[in-house]
Amino acid sequence: MTTSEPWWRDAVVYQVYPRSFADESGDGEGDLAGVISRLPYLASLGVDAIWLSPFYPSPQLDAGYDVSDPRAVDPRFGTLEDAQRMINEAHARGLRVIVDLVPNHFSTAHEWFQEALASPPGSPERARFHFREGRGPNGDEPPNNWASLFTGPSWTRVTEADGLPGQWYMNMFDSSQADLNWTNPDVVEDFHTTLRFWLDMGVDGFRVDVAFGLAKDMTYPDVPDPVGLVEGVRLDLDTGSEESQRRRDLVAGSPYMDRDEVQDIYRGWRAILDSYEGDRMAVAEAWLPPARARRYVAGDTLHQIFNFDFLMAPWDAGALARVITSTIDGLAPAPVTWALNNHDTARVATRLGGGDVGVRRARALAMLAHALPGSLYIFQGEELGLQDAEIPNERREDPVFFRSKGEQLGRDGARAPLPWSGDAPPYGFGGQHTWLPQPDGWGGLTVAAQQDDPASTLALYRASILLRRTHPGLAGDAPWRITTDRDDVIVLERGAGFVCVSNCSAGPIPAPDGMVLLSSAPLLADGSIPPDTTAWFQT
Ligand code: GLC
Repeated sequence: MTTSEPWWRDAVVYQVYPRSFADESGDGEGDLAGVISRLPYLASLGVDAIWLSPFYPSPQLDAGYDVSDPRAVDPRFGTLEDAQRMINEAHARGLRVIVDLVPNHFSTAHEWFQEALASPPGSPERARFHFREGRGPNGDEPPNNWASLFTGPSWTRVTEADGLPGQWYMNMFDSSQADLNWTNPDVVEDFHTTLRFWLDMGVDGFRVDVAFGLAKDMTYPDVPDPVGLVEGVRLDLDTGSEESQRRRDLVAGSPYMDRDEVQDIYRGWRAILDSYEGDRMAVAEAWLPPARARRYVAGDTLHQIFNFDFLMAPWDAGALARVITSTIDGLAPAPVTWALNNHDTARVATRLGGGDVGVRRARALAMLAHALPGSLYIFQGEELGLQDAEIPNERREDPVFFRSKGEQLGRDGARAPLPWSGDAPPYGFGGQHTWLPQPDGWGGLTVAAQQDDPASTLALYRASILLRRTHPGLAGDAPWRITTDRDDVIVLERGAGFVCVSNCSAGPIPAPDGMVLLSSAPLLADGSIPPDTTAWFQT
């Protein structure tokens, strides 16, 4: 009997951000019917799976990551029947489906939290969350000094039944997101039910939101450097510097991040996933270096973890080579994942400098990532070479912007609705007034505009995904080797004579002997590789 590798080990997964993907109902927000209508597009891209950010009932105070019922569909996105149809139709096209699971917190609109508010201190209803008395003379100081990842304290005070200020509840993110108490059996049980609910509907896996955050030290001790600790997992972490290393060290062993007990939670989930047929999987969202990350993919816990070191790496050959090597080696034998951006970060073209240079580098970095062993996560619109949209402050939605009083602009720029066709907003997205504005000037970037243009980013993604699937040298188990004879060039060798060269330098470099398979920008007349370009060769 031959055992084949599970599908997720080298899958290409496309992240759908449902609110901004495609709008069939015409209300200016994307929906599940929109996802269904674009499944042919996703299949033609050549991806193996889609991951959908949350589409569950939610007040949308953190764009759906404030879930008020994890086993239902928000009417703005459709119905449970639509979700079932989406799963079935994706499967019919050979696409797997991963859904988001948000276990660190519930929306304060969730019925459990409403019950907790209506119940007295010390009640079983409150014990599902982290309710504590405040400090100071009237309890008007937060219970400890932990900081929210969205800035400010990670505690919010409630008004009790007598109308007076009372206990505080923990919120690692927005105050509309109350952290769950994972030592409470109700919580464990409820998430087992949620896992089974979606597995029974046929989903192939889960993306686990804030996977490093669920367990807390129940003695709630103060931390020495609350802001530094948050910076250690901050959404725009600057990897590599001494200061970022210091902050990362604060995370390891902290009382509310990356505690060993989270792995016990995942062992329970793994047993459930393994009890279903068909390689069901889970991928952890945890902003951690490889030495810590490997615990999440230890064999009896989750299956994959996002590679944020790679996601945040600059366009620099030395840095990229170090990150690639340290993450592959650091996670082995578990496979690595690669992503250039997601809904929490700047779009890759913006992050790498914006403008033509940013797009050029984004294309080159994508081709490097597509040539690596492991699995690949593509954020919607990345395949179109989109850059962050400029969002006027009065249209911003991200709680990070509001909590930081505008000091941090937040993540809305990456979340503008996709351009499908046409020369002006809404670019075929649907509706008239899209929930976030789209920029002028996206007419040349729509799917329709790029569809038949061989020089487009869309064509590049189609070609590289196809080669990734068909070239024997890029098979999941094909060897890999990186050489950096020059510190501004990466040469990646895979099997069967496949060579990938990324030129991060400011001048052209000679190409290896062999045939060009694909390149992120045209090679020069003498065959050399221009700056900010990746080319694949058959040698
Ligand atoms: C994760 C999500 C992010 C969300 C946060 C709180 O980091 O990706 O969008 O704001 O968790 O749920």
